[in-house]
Amino acid sequence: MAFDRMASSISYNDIMVSLRRRFDEINDVLPVFDDVRSKRLVDGARSCAIVGCGSGEMELAFVEHCMPAIETLCAVEPDADSVVDLRARIARQLPPNVRSAVVADAAQIWAADTDRVFDVVVMFHVVSDIPEPDRRALFDRLFDAVIRPDGLLVIVTRTGRRDGTQSTESRIMEALNRRPYVDSKWYEEARRLAESVGFTACYERRYGLNVNVENLDAAYFGFYARECDQPTSLETVERIVREVIGDAKWSRKEFVFGVFRKPAAHS
Ligand SMILES: C[S@@+](CC[C@H](N)C(=O)[O-])C[C@H]1O[C@@H](n2cnc3c(N)ncnc32)[C@H](O)[C@@H]1O
Repeated sequence: MAFDRMASSISYNDIMVSLRRRFDEINDVLPVFDDVRSKRLVDGARSCAIVGCGSGEMELAFVEHCMPAIETLCAVEPDADSVVDLRARIARQLPPNVRSAVVADAAQIWAADTDRVFDVVVMFHVVSDIPEPDRRALFDRLFDAVIRPDGLLVIVTRTGRRDGTQSTESRIMEALNRRPYVDSKWYEEARRLAESVGFTACYERRYGLNVNVENLDAAYFGFYARECDQPTSLETVERIVREVIGDAKWSRKEFVFGVFRKPAAHS
Protein backbone atom coordinates (compact mmCIF):
# COMPACT_ATOMS: atom_id res chain seq x y z
CA MET A 1 0.00 0.00 0.00
CA ALA A 2 1.34 3.44 -0.83
CA PHE A 3 -0.02 6.96 -1.03
CA ASP A 4 1.31 10.47 -1.50
CA ARG A 5 1.86 13.14 1.12
CA MET A 6 -1.54 14.79 0.61
CA ALA A 7 -3.38 11.52 0.85
CA SER A 8 -1.36 10.44 3.87
CA SER A 9 -2.56 13.52 5.77
CA ILE A 10 -6.07 12.05 5.58
CA SER A 11 -6.50 9.74 8.56
CA TYR A 12 -8.45 6.49 8.46
CA ASN A 13 -10.94 8.23 10.74
CA ASP A 14 -11.48 11.03 8.16
CA ILE A 15 -12.05 8.36 5.52
CA MET A 16 -14.54 6.42 7.63
CA VAL A 17 -16.44 9.57 8.67
CA SER A 18 -16.78 10.48 4.97
CA LEU A 19 -17.75 6.95 3.95
CA ARG A 20 -20.25 6.43 6.74
CA ARG A 21 -22.08 9.64 5.69
CA ARG A 22 -22.73 7.92 2.37
CA PHE A 23 -24.66 4.92 3.71
CA ASP A 24 -26.44 3.68 6.81
CA GLU A 25 -24.80 0.34 7.47
CA ILE A 26 -26.23 -0.17 10.93
CA ASN A 27 -29.72 0.04 9.47
CA ASP A 28 -28.83 -2.46 6.73
CA VAL A 29 -27.02 -4.91 9.01
CA LEU A 30 -29.71 -4.80 11.73
CA PRO A 31 -31.68 -7.82 10.35
CA VAL A 32 -28.43 -9.81 10.64
CA PHE A 33 -27.90 -8.63 14.24
CA ASP A 34 -31.54 -9.61 14.96
CA ASP A 35 -30.93 -13.05 13.47
CA VAL A 36 -27.70 -13.53 15.49
CA ARG A 37 -29.61 -12.50 18.61
CA SER A 38 -32.56 -14.81 17.96
CA LYS A 39 -30.17 -17.72 17.30
CA ARG A 40 -28.42 -16.82 20.59
CA LEU A 41 -25.01 -17.14 18.96
CA VAL A 42 -23.16 -14.70 21.22
CA ASP A 43 -25.70 -14.00 23.98
CA GLY A 44 -23.60 -15.71 26.66
CA ALA A 45 -20.39 -13.83 25.80
CA ARG A 46 -18.83 -12.11 28.81
CA SER A 47 -15.67 -10.89 27.16
CA CYS A 48 -15.21 -9.47 23.70
CA ALA A 49 -12.40 -7.87 21.71
CA ILE A 50 -13.35 -5.54 18.86
CA VAL A 51 -10.39 -5.38 16.51
CA GLY A 52 -9.73 -2.71 13.85
CA CYS A 53 -12.89 -1.09 15.12
CA GLY A 54 -12.26 2.52 14.02
CA SER A 55 -14.49 4.69 16.18
CA GLY A 56 -16.45 1.56 17.12
CA GLU A 57 -19.86 2.63 15.82
CA MET A 58 -20.85 -0.67 14.22
CA GLU A 59 -19.03 -2.86 16.75
CA LEU A 60 -20.67 -1.21 19.78
CA ALA A 61 -24.08 -1.47 18.09
CA PHE A 62 -23.42 -5.22 17.68
CA VAL A 63 -22.28 -5.64 21.27
CA GLU A 64 -25.28 -3.69 22.59
CA HIS A 65 -27.71 -5.61 20.42
CA CYS A 66 -26.39 -9.15 20.79
CA MET A 67 -24.24 -9.46 23.93
CA PRO A 68 -26.40 -8.70 26.99
CA ALA A 69 -24.00 -10.55 29.34
CA ILE A 70 -20.89 -8.58 28.36
CA GLU A 71 -18.60 -7.72 31.29
CA THR A 72 -15.29 -6.88 29.57
CA LEU A 73 -14.58 -5.14 26.27
CA CYS A 74 -11.16 -4.63 24.70
CA ALA A 75 -11.00 -2.33 21.65
CA VAL A 76 -7.96 -2.52 19.36
CA GLU A 77 -7.37 0.24 16.80
CA PRO A 78 -4.09 1.67 15.45
CA ASP A 79 -5.38 4.95 13.95
CA ALA A 80 -4.82 7.73 16.52
CA ASP A 81 -7.75 9.92 15.32
CA SER A 82 -10.14 6.97 15.46
CA VAL A 83 -8.95 6.14 18.97
CA VAL A 84 -10.04 9.60 20.20
CA ASP A 85 -13.58 9.04 18.89
CA LEU A 86 -13.54 5.42 20.07
CA ARG A 87 -12.74 6.37 23.66
CA ALA A 88 -15.53 8.97 23.63
CA ARG A 89 -18.02 6.51 22.16
CA ILE A 90 -17.14 3.82 24.72
CA ALA A 91 -17.59 6.32 27.57
CA ARG A 92 -20.95 7.42 26.13
CA GLN A 93 -22.40 4.12 24.99
CA LEU A 94 -21.08 1.26 27.07
CA PRO A 95 -22.98 0.51 30.30
CA PRO A 96 -20.91 1.60 33.34
CA ASN A 97 -20.69 -1.98 34.68
CA VAL A 98 -18.71 -3.09 31.60
CA ARG A 99 -14.92 -2.90 32.08
CA SER A 100 -13.20 -1.57 28.97
CA ALA A 101 -9.69 -1.07 27.62
CA VAL A 102 -8.49 0.59 24.43
CA VAL A 103 -5.30 -0.66 22.80
CA ALA A 104 -3.92 1.82 20.24
CA ASP A 105 -2.02 -0.73 18.21
CA ALA A 106 -2.20 -3.00 15.18
CA ALA A 107 -4.14 -6.23 15.69
CA GLN A 108 -1.15 -8.47 15.06
CA ILE A 109 0.98 -6.65 17.66
CA TRP A 110 -1.80 -6.70 20.24
CA ALA A 111 -2.57 -10.38 19.65
CA ALA A 112 1.08 -11.42 19.88
CA ASP A 113 1.44 -9.62 23.23
CA THR A 114 -1.84 -10.15 25.03
CA ASP A 115 -2.28 -12.79 27.70
CA ARG A 116 -6.04 -12.18 27.79
CA VAL A 117 -8.52 -14.77 26.50
CA PHE A 118 -11.87 -13.71 24.98
CA ASP A 119 -15.21 -15.38 24.38
CA VAL A 120 -15.65 -13.45 21.13
CA VAL A 121 -13.35 -11.50 18.80
CA VAL A 122 -15.05 -9.17 16.30
CA MET A 123 -13.38 -8.03 13.07
CA PHE A 124 -15.65 -5.83 10.93
CA HIS A 125 -14.21 -4.58 7.62
CA VAL A 126 -10.59 -5.00 8.68
CA VAL A 127 -9.26 -8.42 7.61
CA SER A 128 -8.15 -7.15 4.18
CA ASP A 129 -6.36 -4.19 5.79
CA ILE A 130 -3.93 -6.50 7.55
CA PRO A 131 -1.09 -7.41 5.20
CA GLU A 132 0.23 -10.93 4.78
CA PRO A 133 2.10 -12.61 6.43
CA ASP A 134 0.80 -10.71 9.51
CA ARG A 135 -2.78 -11.74 8.72
CA ARG A 136 -2.04 -15.46 8.93
CA ALA A 137 0.06 -15.00 12.08
CA LEU A 138 -2.84 -13.05 13.63
CA PHE A 139 -5.42 -15.72 12.81
CA ASP A 140 -3.09 -18.42 14.16
CA ARG A 141 -2.66 -16.51 17.38
CA LEU A 142 -6.42 -15.80 17.70
CA PHE A 143 -7.09 -19.51 17.37
CA ASP A 144 -4.24 -20.77 19.53
CA ALA A 145 -4.42 -18.36 22.45
CA VAL A 146 -6.71 -15.32 22.23
CA ILE A 147 -10.10 -17.01 21.72
CA ARG A 148 -11.20 -19.56 24.31
CA PRO A 149 -12.24 -23.10 23.31
CA ASP A 150 -15.82 -22.94 21.96
CA GLY A 151 -15.33 -19.17 21.49
CA LEU A 152 -16.16 -17.26 18.33
CA LEU A 153 -14.49 -15.12 15.69
CA VAL A 154 -16.94 -12.78 13.93
CA ILE A 155 -15.89 -11.37 10.56
CA VAL A 156 -17.57 -8.96 8.17
CA THR A 157 -15.96 -8.44 4.81
CA ARG A 158 -16.89 -7.68 1.23
CA THR A 159 -18.26 -10.25 -1.17
CA GLY A 160 -19.52 -10.43 -4.75
CA ARG A 161 -22.89 -8.95 -5.63
CA ARG A 162 -25.71 -11.46 -5.80
CA ASP A 163 -26.54 -10.35 -9.34
CA GLY A 164 -22.97 -11.11 -10.46
CA THR A 165 -22.12 -7.57 -11.56
CA GLN A 166 -18.79 -6.08 -10.47
CA SER A 167 -18.82 -3.48 -7.68
CA THR A 168 -17.82 0.11 -8.41
CA GLU A 169 -15.09 -0.28 -5.80
CA SER A 170 -13.47 -3.16 -7.69
CA ARG A 171 -13.79 -1.35 -11.01
CA ILE A 172 -11.99 1.64 -9.48
CA MET A 173 -9.25 -0.56 -8.01
CA GLU A 174 -8.75 -2.31 -11.36
CA ALA A 175 -8.42 1.06 -13.09
CA LEU A 176 -5.93 2.29 -10.47
CA ASN A 177 -3.76 -0.81 -10.13
CA ARG A 178 -4.27 -2.42 -13.56
CA ARG A 179 -4.89 -5.88 -12.15
CA PRO A 180 -8.11 -7.87 -11.76
CA TYR A 181 -10.26 -7.42 -8.64
CA VAL A 182 -12.82 -10.11 -7.86
CA ASP A 183 -15.38 -9.04 -5.25
CA SER A 184 -16.09 -12.55 -4.00
CA LYS A 185 -12.46 -13.24 -3.12
CA TRP A 186 -12.50 -10.93 -0.06
CA TYR A 187 -14.79 -13.12 1.99
CA GLU A 188 -13.63 -16.37 0.39
CA GLU A 189 -10.02 -15.64 1.40
CA ALA A 190 -10.99 -14.68 4.97
CA ARG A 191 -13.08 -17.85 5.31
CA ARG A 192 -10.31 -20.03 3.88
CA LEU A 193 -7.78 -18.51 6.27
CA ALA A 194 -10.07 -18.91 9.31
CA GLU A 195 -10.72 -22.56 8.43
CA SER A 196 -7.07 -23.27 7.68
CA VAL A 197 -6.05 -22.32 11.22
CA GLY A 198 -8.81 -24.48 12.77
CA PHE A 199 -12.04 -22.41 13.02
CA THR A 200 -15.31 -23.85 11.73
CA ALA A 201 -17.86 -21.63 10.00
CA CYS A 202 -21.11 -21.78 11.97
CA TYR A 203 -23.14 -18.88 10.59
CA GLU A 204 -23.00 -16.89 7.34
CA ARG A 205 -25.40 -14.30 6.08
CA ARG A 206 -25.15 -11.82 3.28
CA TYR A 207 -26.30 -8.19 3.45
CA GLY A 208 -25.90 -5.21 1.18
CA LEU A 209 -26.06 -1.46 1.18
CA ASN A 210 -26.27 1.40 -1.28
CA VAL A 211 -23.49 3.98 -1.18
CA ASN A 212 -24.25 7.53 -2.23
CA VAL A 213 -21.47 8.58 -4.61
CA GLU A 214 -22.50 12.19 -5.17
CA ASN A 215 -20.42 15.14 -3.93
CA LEU A 216 -17.19 13.14 -3.72
CA ASP A 217 -14.61 14.55 -1.31
CA ALA A 218 -10.88 14.22 -0.56
CA ALA A 219 -11.50 11.59 2.13
CA TYR A 220 -13.36 9.45 -0.39
CA PHE A 221 -10.40 9.65 -2.79
CA GLY A 222 -8.06 9.06 0.17
CA PHE A 223 -9.70 5.68 0.72
CA TYR A 224 -8.65 4.58 -2.78
CA ALA A 225 -5.23 6.26 -2.52
CA ARG A 226 -4.44 4.00 0.47
CA GLU A 227 -5.12 0.95 -1.67
CA CYS A 228 -2.84 1.88 -4.58
CA ASP A 229 0.05 -0.50 -5.30
CA GLN A 230 2.27 2.46 -6.28
CA PRO A 231 2.41 6.00 -4.80
CA THR A 232 -0.39 7.84 -6.63
CA SER A 233 -1.33 11.49 -6.28
CA LEU A 234 -4.76 12.32 -4.96
CA GLU A 235 -5.43 14.18 -8.25
CA THR A 236 -4.79 11.00 -10.26
CA VAL A 237 -6.98 8.98 -7.91
CA GLU A 238 -9.73 11.59 -8.19
CA ARG A 239 -9.58 11.57 -12.02
CA ILE A 240 -9.81 7.77 -12.21
CA VAL A 241 -12.55 7.52 -9.58
CA ARG A 242 -14.63 10.15 -11.40
CA GLU A 243 -14.11 8.39 -14.74
CA VAL A 244 -15.37 5.08 -13.32
CA ILE A 245 -18.28 6.55 -11.37
CA GLY A 246 -19.44 8.83 -14.18
CA ASP A 247 -22.94 10.17 -13.53
CA ALA A 248 -23.93 7.43 -11.08
CA LYS A 249 -25.49 8.56 -7.80
CA TRP A 250 -25.47 5.20 -6.01
CA SER A 251 -23.29 2.12 -5.95
CA ARG A 252 -24.13 -1.21 -4.33
CA LYS A 253 -21.82 -3.12 -1.98
CA GLU A 254 -22.47 -6.54 -0.52
CA PHE A 255 -20.89 -8.25 2.47
CA VAL A 256 -20.90 -11.51 4.37
CA PHE A 257 -21.34 -11.58 8.14
CA GLY A 258 -19.52 -14.77 9.14
CA VAL A 259 -19.23 -16.44 12.54
CA PHE A 260 -16.47 -19.00 13.11
CA ARG A 261 -16.18 -21.29 16.09
CA LYS A 262 -13.06 -22.62 17.76
CA PRO A 263 -13.80 -26.27 18.61
CA ALA A 264 -14.54 -26.88 22.29
CA ALA A 265 -12.02 -29.69 22.44
CA HIS A 266 -9.11 -27.46 21.48
CA SER A 267 -7.22 -26.36 24.59
C1 LIG B 1 -12.50 0.04 6.84
S1 LIG B 1 -12.08 0.57 8.45
C2 LIG B 1 -13.34 -0.25 9.41
C3 LIG B 1 -13.54 0.36 10.76
C4 LIG B 1 -14.66 -0.28 11.57
N1 LIG B 1 -14.38 -1.68 11.84
C5 LIG B 1 -15.98 -0.14 10.86
O1 LIG B 1 -16.53 -1.17 10.42
O2 LIG B 1 -16.46 0.99 10.73
C6 LIG B 1 -10.64 -0.39 8.80
C7 LIG B 1 -10.08 -0.12 10.17
O3 LIG B 1 -9.02 -1.05 10.39
C8 LIG B 1 -7.97 -0.35 11.02
N2 LIG B 1 -6.73 -1.10 10.73
C9 LIG B 1 -5.92 -1.03 9.65
N3 LIG B 1 -4.89 -1.89 9.77
C10 LIG B 1 -5.06 -2.52 10.96
C11 LIG B 1 -4.33 -3.51 11.68
N4 LIG B 1 -3.20 -4.03 11.19
N5 LIG B 1 -4.79 -3.89 12.88
C12 LIG B 1 -5.94 -3.38 13.40
N6 LIG B 1 -6.67 -2.46 12.75
C13 LIG B 1 -6.24 -2.02 11.56
C14 LIG B 1 -7.99 1.03 10.40
O4 LIG B 1 -7.28 1.98 11.18
C15 LIG B 1 -9.48 1.27 10.32
O5 LIG B 1 -9.97 1.86 11.50
